[in-house]
Amino acid sequence: MRDDFLLDPGVIYLNHGSFGACPRPVFEAYQAYQRELERQPVEFLALERRLPELLDEARVALASYVGASPDNLAFVTNASSAINAAARSLRLEPGEEVLMGDDEYGGMRILWNYVCARSGAHLAERPFEELDPGPRTRVIFCSHIEWSSGRVNDVAALCRRAREAGVFTIVDGAHAPGQIELHLEAIGADVYAGNCHKWMCAPKGSGFLHAHRDAQRLIDPLIVSWDWGDGAAFHELHRWQGTRDPSAFLAVQDAIAFLASNDWASVRTRCHELLAGAAIPLEPLTDEFVQMRGFRVEHDDPPELKRRLYDEHRIEVPIFETQHGWALRVSVQAYNDEDDLRALAAALSES
Ligand SMILES: Cc1ncc(COP(=O)(O)O)c(C=O)c1O
Repeated sequence: MRDDFLLDPGVIYLNHGSFGACPRPVFEAYQAYQRELERQPVEFLALERRLPELLDEARVALASYVGASPDNLAFVTNASSAINAAARSLRLEPGEEVLMGDDEYGGMRILWNYVCARSGAHLAERPFEELDPGPRTRVIFCSHIEWSSGRVNDVAALCRRAREAGVFTIVDGAHAPGQIELHLEAIGADVYAGNCHKWMCAPKGSGFLHAHRDAQRLIDPLIVSWDWGDGAAFHELHRWQGTRDPSAFLAVQDAIAFLASNDWASVRTRCHELLAGAAIPLEPLTDEFVQMRGFRVEHDDPPELKRRLYDEHRIEVPIFETQHGWALRVSVQAYNDEDDLRALAAALSES
C-alpha cells in the first residue's frame, strides 16, 4: 500500500502516531472540497447555504464509524481543541481534585496544570489502574491509548466506576479511532476527544468532541460566535468558529470509505503482527498495544540517537522524554513492512 500514500519514499517512516499520513484518494477528495470552496466561497461556507448539510453528512458518517449518536458528536480541529473546550469549561473549585493518568500527552499535562493553577484545584497523577476517585475528585482525565507506551486502557470500566462516584470523565482518544474499533456510547465517558487525522488517515485538522447528553451544556465551545444560542444543538454550538476551511472534516467520510475498501481490520492485524514480531533491541513498555509501541531508551544521549537515526539512516521515529524516562515509539501503518522494522533494529544495534 506504500504507493497509496504521499510519503517521501526516501524516508523509513515509523512515526504515524505523531501526525498521521493521508492516503492519496483521501487527500484528493480533500483537495476537491477545497477547490469547490474556492469556486464559490459563500455558497460553500455560509450557514444558510451548504455548510450545515455538508457537515451533517460527514458527522453522521463519523458517528456510525465510532459508535456514537450523531447528536452527541461535534467536529473540532483536533483532540487538543476538544480537551481544551471541556477542561476550560468546568468550573473547578479550590481544593477539588483532578485525577489524571501518569502517561498523559505533554500538551494535555500543560493544559491541566494551567486549569488547576487558575482554579486552585489539585492535580494528582497515577497509573491507570490506580485512578480511583476519592472524596474530593471532581474529574478523571486519562488516555484510551497512551501516547508513549501505546498501551490500550479499559476506559469503559473506569468511566463506569467514575459515574457511580459522581465524577466527571474526560477520555483522551487521540490515538484510538482507526487503531481500535470504537463504540463511544458504550464507553460512557462524559467527554471523549478523538482525532481522525491520526489513525483514520483523514486530512490534518480533523477531530471530534463527543459528549454524553448530560454533559453537553457544561461545555462551552472554544470560540463563541454565530452558532451560539440557547436553542442550538450540541454540534451546532461547536460549528462556527470563525472563518476556516472545513474540508478536512468533510474528507473524514472519504477516509472511512478508504479504510472500508481496504479491509482495514486485516491491515491493522498485519501491522500489529509486524510490530509484535519486530526484533527491536530495547525493552518494550507494554504488551497491550495495537499499531504503536513504546520502548525504554537507556542511551547516554537520546536526542543524539534520534538525530543519527534520521540523519544517517533516514529513519523517522520519535524519541522523547516521559515522566518514566526516555522512550522510543514505533508506529506501524499500512505503508510499513518488515524491512522498515529490520532497518530500525539494525540501526539501533549499531548505535
Ligand atoms: C495522547 C495524545 N493526546 C492528545 C494529542 C494531541 O493531538 P492533536 O495535536 O491532534 O490535538 C496527542 C498528539 O499526539 C496525543 O498523543
